[in-house]
Amino acid sequence: MTGAEPTVLARLVAAGLERREARWLTEEFGADSVALEGALARRLAGEPLQYVIGHWPFRGLDLDVDPRALIPRPETEELVGYAIDALAQSNVAAPVVLDLGCGTGAIGLSILAELAERGVSATLIALDESHDALALCRQNAIKHRLFAVSFVEGSWYEGLDDSLAGRVDLIVSNPPYVGALERETLDPVLDHEPAGALVAPDAEGVAGFADLAVVIAGAPHWLSHGGALVVEHGEGHREAVRRAAYGAGLRDVVDHDDLAGRPRVLVARRP
Ligand SMILES: C[S@@+](CC[C@H](N)C(=O)[O-])C[C@H]1O[C@@H](n2cnc3c(N)ncnc32)[C@H](O)[C@@H]1O
Repeated sequence: MTGAEPTVLARLVAAGLERREARWLTEEFGADSVALEGALARRLAGEPLQYVIGHWPFRGLDLDVDPRALIPRPETEELVGYAIDALAQSNVAAPVVLDLGCGTGAIGLSILAELAERGVSATLIALDESHDALALCRQNAIKHRLFAVSFVEGSWYEGLDDSLAGRVDLIVSNPPYVGALERETLDPVLDHEPAGALVAPDAEGVAGFADLAVVIAGAPHWLSHGGALVVEHGEGHREAVRRAAYGAGLRDVVDHDDLAGRPRVLVARRP
């Protein structure tokens, strides 16, 4: 830390930032007072810290993040762990991975990078209905020199070429799953993230379940035999996702809690 920084830090705190955030901004923009002032103004106006800083760690990757896509959440890091375990059990030499609703690419790109560290060369299909999110995902793939990625713009499985049917070894997804009523109760900071990334219509009498229902029901058509589906869901969805998985003909259905003890990640396989 240079001699000027403690003063800068104190000024940011006096302006209303938490000390921890003030330190992050100082570390990011410290030498550039114009950038620091801009960042301070954006943060004080309520923009998420991650967007203000412009990049954020997710597992081993430093991902570019901006309002084009949802900020990756810590609980989603746990999903990646389950997905890699599921693939390790399948023991496929060169797996095909499909990330449905890829956003920044947090899930799919982490899987690709971590498999590469283990000497496994996977290919990733990163799909999103948001053109902007896909552009950010592509930016992150290039940033991390992950080139075995194809990008598909479309709504869930509709965008996929049918030649992929029965050939996907792992489908991962963190679809929108917040119900409209619940959304109204959440922190206004979420207003800065794309609405289409968070909120899903109700289905089968379950709040926020419509996208989860489509992702789970469609999985068997695309998965290889023994291929795994790993999906994040909301706290109130455990019963509905298990029912949907069995209803779709998937087996080895396990639903995991997150580290806070909340139902969070469904894992299931095509027999
Ligand atoms: C909760 S965000 C997850 C983003 C990222 N996978 C992550 O975990 O950080 C949901 C993503 O699904 C995308 N999405 C929403 N509806 C979709 C649809 N019908 N088809 C494809 N993607 C969709 C959104 O654009 C958003 O990027």
